[in-house]
Parts: sequence; structure tokens; C-alpha cells
Amino acid sequence: MEVLRSKRELADWIRSCGNSERTLVPTMGALHRGHTSLIALAREKTPENDVVATIFVNPTQFGPNEDFDSYPRQLEDDLHLCEEHGAAAVFAPSANEMYQADTSILIHESALSHRLCGASRPGHFDGVCTIVAKLFLMTQPSAAIFGEKDFQQLVVLRRLVRDLDFPIDIIPGPTVREGDGLAMSSRNAYLSAEERAQAPVIFRSLTRVAKEISEGIIKTPDAAIASLTEEIGDTPLARIDYLEIVDSRSLEAITSLENANPRLLAAVFFGKTRLIDNVGLPALID
Ligand code: PAF
Repeated sequence: MEVLRSKRELADWIRSCGNSERTLVPTMGALHRGHTSLIALAREKTPENDVVATIFVNPTQFGPNEDFDSYPRQLEDDLHLCEEHGAAAVFAPSANEMYQADTSILIHESALSHRLCGASRPGHFDGVCTIVAKLFLMTQPSAAIFGEKDFQQLVVLRRLVRDLDFPIDIIPGPTVREGDGLAMSSRNAYLSAEERAQAPVIFRSLTRVAKEISEGIIKTPDAAIASLTEEIGDTPLARIDYLEIVDSRSLEAITSLENANPRLLAAVFFGKTRLIDNVGLPALID
């Protein structure tokens, strides 16, 4: 596996690969099974392609009071995991390599980003769009994998590809969970033992409400949100940021459960740690 630290090394490696195509798996490192499943999915869905993982904690997607400085960094362990799971190369640049000190152009997304996570993280999705567009330009992939856990990010990045005409197939990766249902996230490491014990309430409530919708027990979006709010709100260490049922493409709140493609989304604080999760309704109707 090639470890590439500069844009020049990356460009040279791409040139040396000739006509072979690439699938990109962008990450911020601190890799866990959620990430390695994305590398495995890349190999499964695009078997002819080289898998290129990127490891970069992107400063432009963190707000001033967020965890950029304390975000876990463990490059050596991450490189071992990428190699073990079959990445052909890892691009792990420094911040100076990716941004000029006086960088003045960022991509702005104006329709999908202001709600949900964007409401409490202003500028976050502009930072994500900017770094992902730069990684697309540098790595020139034909496909890229993004996890469904960050559902709003996935929808925003599909829009990025559509609106800026990147010839890249976006492949969603299913959320990987701990045994008790908690979605895997690098931020789970911040939870205290008590918070960790209570955090599975998020997925438990989302799946219960999705089931009750599919069984006709819950009949309206308002009733679904009320039911989620009651269960999660009753959890002593949980503080709800948002609970919503949205249309999977527009991310707008739906007013009827007749919507063909609804998605339940949650963002909940445990202490200072903000956890997100989501489930699709049709996926749960067996
Ligand atoms: O999902 C993430 O880890 C990041 O937002 C991404 C897509 C790697 C961009 O920095």
C-alpha cells in the first residue's frame, strides 16, 4: 500500500497507475469498523478499481467551539487498518498541503445545509463540500463511498456531484453498529461510561417508531416526533438537538407519512458529545 503525504506524491502515483480507475473513501481518520466497512464496500462494488482512502481532519468543517484540536488522531493505526482491508493507497496530507494560509474561496451549498445538523453547525457543509471537491480533483476517482450515518452529508454530496458535474458515482455505505445498536462513530470515544450506557436509546427509539409507522400504529409525522421526543427526552443524560422526519431527497420535513421516501433523523447530545443517527422507513418494512 502506498502512503502519500503530498499532492505531488499523489499525482505521481496516479500517473504511474495508467488507465486504472479509482474509488475514493474519504475519512478524517480514527478509523473503526464503520470506516473499514466502507473500504470493503469499495472493493465489493468496484472490484476493478484501486481503493484510495484519504485521512485528513479538515479544519474548514469545524466551528470555532467544536472539537477540531481534540479530534482523535492515530495515523499509524489507521494506515495498518487501511492496508489490512485492501486499500491500494492512502493520501494523508497536512493542513498546509491542503489549504493556503490565505485561502479565500470555499464552496457554498444553499438549499440542503441550513437545517438539521447545519442549523447547529453553521458553515459545516460548506467546509465538507470544499474538502470533498478538492479530494475529487486531486484523486480523480470514478466512484466515492460515503456512510449513511451522516445522511445529510450524503445528500449534500450527491448535490455537489450533480451541480458541479463531477463524473463520480456516489455509493452509500450502510451504518455499522455496536452490539447494542449504537452507530459507530469516532466521537463515541468521548462518552463517559454512563453516557455510553444510555446512548443506544437513539437507535432503539428510531427503530421502534419506524416499526410503529409501518404497522399503522403511528399515523402522522407529528405523532412520530412526539413519541421519539418522549422516549429520548426521558433518558436522563440525553439532550435533544433535533428529531425530524424528512423527505430523503430534499431533506424538508414531511407533513404526511404517504411520502414515498421518508427518513427519521436524530441528533442528541450526551454531555458535550453530539451523536447523530437515522433510519429509512421502507427499509424497515419487511
Ligand atoms: O464524513 C467525514 O468523515 C468527513 O466529513 C469527510 C467526508 C471525510 C470530509 O472531511
